[in-house]
Amino acid sequence: MSADKKSLGFDSVCIHGGHKAESNRAHLTPIYATSTYTFDSAEQAIAVFKNEEPGYIYGRFGNPTINEAEEKIALLEAYGLQDNNGAPLKLKAILHASGMAAITTMLLSNLKAGDKIITHQSLYGGTQEMIDKILPNLGIEVIIVDFHELNNVASVLNTEKGIKMMYIETPANPTLQCVDMAALVKLGKQHGLIICADNTFATPYLQQPFKYGVDFVMHSTTKFLNGHGTAVGGILIGSDLEKMNGIVTKTHRLLGGNSNAFEAFLLNNGLRTFSIRMERHCSNAEKVAAFLEAHPAVERVNYLGLASHPDHATAMKQMKHAGAMLSFELKGGFDAGVKFIDKLKLCISAVSLGTCDTLISHPASTTHVGVKREDRIKFGITDGLIRMSVGIETVDDIIDDLSQALQS
Ligand SMILES: Cc1ncc(COP(=O)(O)O)c(C=O)c1O
Repeated sequence: MSADKKSLGFDSVCIHGGHKAESNRAHLTPIYATSTYTFDSAEQAIAVFKNEEPGYIYGRFGNPTINEAEEKIALLEAYGLQDNNGAPLKLKAILHASGMAAITTMLLSNLKAGDKIITHQSLYGGTQEMIDKILPNLGIEVIIVDFHELNNVASVLNTEKGIKMMYIETPANPTLQCVDMAALVKLGKQHGLIICADNTFATPYLQQPFKYGVDFVMHSTTKFLNGHGTAVGGILIGSDLEKMNGIVTKTHRLLGGNSNAFEAFLLNNGLRTFSIRMERHCSNAEKVAAFLEAHPAVERVNYLGLASHPDHATAMKQMKHAGAMLSFELKGGFDAGVKFIDKLKLCISAVSLGTCDTLISHPASTTHVGVKREDRIKFGITDGLIRMSVGIETVDDIIDDLSQALQS
């Protein structure tokens, strides 16, 4: 079936988007376990190498299983959007071995020594480390500003020379901070910046950054897009097709952070149920947040759907729903956190997110156990903080499990 018919609904794009008929009439795109591809003739090889004819060359450059995931996700991020001429927006996506590989390709294909990036305080830890520890060695400077303070952002943009890129992550991992994409993109564009957004937490089901005019979107597909916790992956999507087909493809191929057919197959399979999973993730999270907010052992709940969240209004302006991620603070501090995790029977103690099953972690005793207490508290990782990725189980079962684990 032709995958990119304009009339398909979002749910149908999740299932059929990017799929191409296969010569053996396999229903699903198989795992193309081959490292290289053959040519009919030298003449055809020349045409494929010159990009004058479509065709696969070598596994590091892509394959049909990978291509289906790329086209599906590009269609989802562009869904219902138009370009400056009112035509349906066309995007190109490149699947990578991980979210970090996708982010690295994006950074290295756009920045050079002497350039600066402006970004905000709250980014995924891996991205933060990349920016703090790797980019300065390449002569790329990072300026961190609180993106809630738009006047400060404007004044930095007016005074600092050499800023080339604005890097946004909203909602951010793990703090769930949300920043105003429309306002930031407007400011960034006034200064001719390249603007990129990590959309891992929201996914195109909840938020489409290209609507506001960003240039690049990145995802860790490991999370909600795959949805089953079966494969690590990342995707880089761009609206400047010439650039995507040029320097970005070149950088991707030369850095070697390519995906593989097996993990792409698992991603394709997960994407088929993406939208229906998201619907359940969101409705379950809303009920879990309400339960936790009313529980006497819980000091506070950090969920974008609650009016008590400082970024609630921003989130509701740019997201279809508050999503499936939340955190909460136990009144009993560190010991209560450890005890709570040990008592869980249904929810899984693990650090990733976006899988069908509910994943819960206690950062103070796991991801941040090696970080000095005063340092992690500065970043909002308090002793009794529990992070939760709400799954798609029967919501009463999730709540029953939390309820028994919270009992003293
Ligand atoms: C928001 C965000 N961006 C990027 C990444 C990196 O993705 P990966 O672990 O697939 O490299 C993560 C991982 O948790 C993430 O949460």
